[in-house]
Amino acid sequence: MKNQHLTTNQGAPITDNQNSLTVGRDGPTLLQDHIFLEKLAHFDRERIPERVVHAKGAGAHGFFKVYKDMSKYTMAKFLNNPTKETPVFVRFSVVIGSKGVADTVRDVRGFAVKFYTEDGNYDIVGNNLPIFFIRDAIKFPDLIHALKPDPISNIPGDSAKNNRFWDYISLTPEATHMITWLFSDLGTIKSYRTMKGAGVNTYKWINFEGESKLIKYHWIPMAGEKTIDRFEAEKLAGIDPDIASRDLFDTLAKGKTVDYELRVQMIDEDEDDLDFDPLDATKTWPEKKFPLMPVGMMTLNRNPQNFFAEVEQVAFAPSAIVPGIGFTNDKLLQGRLFSYTDTHMHRLGKNFLQLPINRPIVPINNNMQDGPAQYLPNKGTTNYNPNSLNNGNPHPVPFSGKPEKVKAEGTIKRREIEKTNDYEQAGERYRSLSKTQRDHLVSNIVDALGYAKKDIQYRMLNNFLKADQDFGRRVAKGLGLNH
Ligand code: HEM
Repeated sequence: MKNQHLTTNQGAPITDNQNSLTVGRDGPTLLQDHIFLEKLAHFDRERIPERVVHAKGAGAHGFFKVYKDMSKYTMAKFLNNPTKETPVFVRFSVVIGSKGVADTVRDVRGFAVKFYTEDGNYDIVGNNLPIFFIRDAIKFPDLIHALKPDPISNIPGDSAKNNRFWDYISLTPEATHMITWLFSDLGTIKSYRTMKGAGVNTYKWINFEGESKLIKYHWIPMAGEKTIDRFEAEKLAGIDPDIASRDLFDTLAKGKTVDYELRVQMIDEDEDDLDFDPLDATKTWPEKKFPLMPVGMMTLNRNPQNFFAEVEQVAFAPSAIVPGIGFTNDKLLQGRLFSYTDTHMHRLGKNFLQLPINRPIVPINNNMQDGPAQYLPNKGTTNYNPNSLNNGNPHPVPFSGKPEKVKAEGTIKRREIEKTNDYEQAGERYRSLSKTQRDHLVSNIVDALGYAKKDIQYRMLNNFLKADQDFGRRVAKGLGLNH
């Protein structure tokens, strides 16, 4: 390898970066030692704010290929051409703990995919579980506060054994369904390669005719789905806390690939004979009625070259969509459309989309300018539209589809959705589990809820009984509660 000279960040040669500059052997260090000051000042600023949720993660590069032209359903170009490989970057994450959290703790896992398409970046920012705790984004800060460490002691502990968490959940009936997923063994994993993914929110696919369908995304791991039980999870948290991150890195470093199939469920927008609201993120869509249609394959094949530059600085946003994809009135999604870009500006700065990992592969043309860390300035003097000095450039793109039909009218008010149906799917889910899975679910809940105050335990019990009598009775027995 060629010899490299040590330099400052200004490019000046450094003759010694191990001894600071002093007057005489024992004299004070000089303020003029710019080499020393630059080195310390840079070190002092190495950390950026950790993500407010999903702080610990692991990432990988790869590509996505659609199986066949999906233009019947969506005009998204990356879903229209089966010969095309669209580059992707994926970040898997643990939600609640800070950056040093163990990979195996009971938690939801993030599954975020960035597609670098010819129409700009498209992000599917999903999780491993197909539903969520709440259905309205205005509740999200409360949910996360209840899960994160106590604001007085700041003791992270085990968020599943947190009195404050159960207090909040017991007063949030729509979360009962999520508890039946999170406290099954799907809440404890040791590999991201054997974990499913889900978009959770309801999006739209829109075709060239302006026709749209409601859709939900699913990622199916080609290596099969695997979980561990809480005893193994607790043991691994002690002896091998980074097991899932390392497993992904080592697999790719050995030249192997990690593959997930993208599948989609669809519902017609005028479908109204369901006993739940298809825009409610606390609900699954029954697979028998709405089968999972295979769409394409994602292949991860390359590790990041630098963790900070790529995994830490990558910025996903549900609002990053391309033509052919649409938003719905899913109230959780609507809030997410604001929150991610807002936090990126805080975490990474206004020009975060100029970072190589976030930069679209297509040219960016508009008149937005300046701001901190601007290094892709627009060229020329006509930084405004309309203009004649630059032939009107950049021009709006002619619209190629048909306008989407949306109906919206009503009084402006804060209100719940109509079909809340908070317990039915929780009961169905319990009854769909095998005997062993039910045993683990009940035992995991009893273990964690046992740390909560009695009145909170009773409130939770009431919710479980409403979901399924047997489920509730077994939790009551485990906790020694009367019912
Ligand atoms: C209203 C509900 C939600 C809000 C307000 C919200 C907000 C946030 C915020 C602020 C971040 C940090 C982003 C960053 O610093 O880069 C984040 C990360 C993330 N969220 Fe959400 N979130 C919500 C619900 C969800 C749901 C339902 C999912 C799954 C479908 C999800 C998946 C993720 C993932 C995967 C990340 C990590 C992205 C990465 O790897 O960088 N979130 N969320």
